[in-house]
Amino acid sequence: MTILHIDSSISGADSISRRLTRAIVGQFADGEVVYRDLAADPLPHLTARGEDAHLLDEFIAADTVVIGAPMYNFTIPSQLKAWLDRLAVAGRSFRYTEAGPEGLLTGKRVIVALASGGAYAEGGPFEHHRSYLKDFLGFLGITPEFVTAAGIAMARDEAVQSADAEVLALAA
Ligand SMILES: Cc1cc2nc3c(=O)[nH]c(=O)nc-3n(C[C@H](O)[C@H](O)[C@H](O)COP(=O)(O)O)c2cc1C
Repeated sequence: MTILHIDSSISGADSISRRLTRAIVGQFADGEVVYRDLAADPLPHLTARGEDAHLLDEFIAADTVVIGAPMYNFTIPSQLKAWLDRLAVAGRSFRYTEAGPEGLLTGKRVIVALASGGAYAEGGPFEHHRSYLKDFLGFLGITPEFVTAAGIAMARDEAVQSADAEVLALAA
């Protein structure tokens, strides 16, 4: 089993999403792990040149993908957006049929570790984080699972404990 492990927090060792992705990957430790740190090695903005096909190849090759997604300014970090921009490729990860768009990456397990200072209702005001990732990955044919540390700015320990319990509850 190949695991693709993605981090995007700029907060280094203090990062809660990094702590959670590490714990999730640790639960599936019997496979090859490919690691990509989008804060340490940021991708440039997308261009029309399409020179980054290896990022989609890497994503397609992984059986399980674990993504660390802090909330910055009510959505995902731009570092993570730059990576997602390489994954939506017509004819490879989605296509349009007469019935509408069809995601082509079915059968992949994707687990997202969310971390946010505040707590937001999914799809409610200011929440463009979980709902965005759910929609984006859904467009590619993926139903993501989420582990959530929310309200870190208000009750850090409770948020982390609750997320740790969600990690342990993930079926290996
Ligand atoms: C640049 C920046 C922007 C942030 N914007 C928000 C925000 O819009 N809403 C929120 O609830 N928390 C916000 N936060 C708080 C983070 O979501 C919180 O610190 C979270 O733990 C970040 O994930 P990490 O610990 O993995 O770095 C922001 C933090 C940073 C550094």
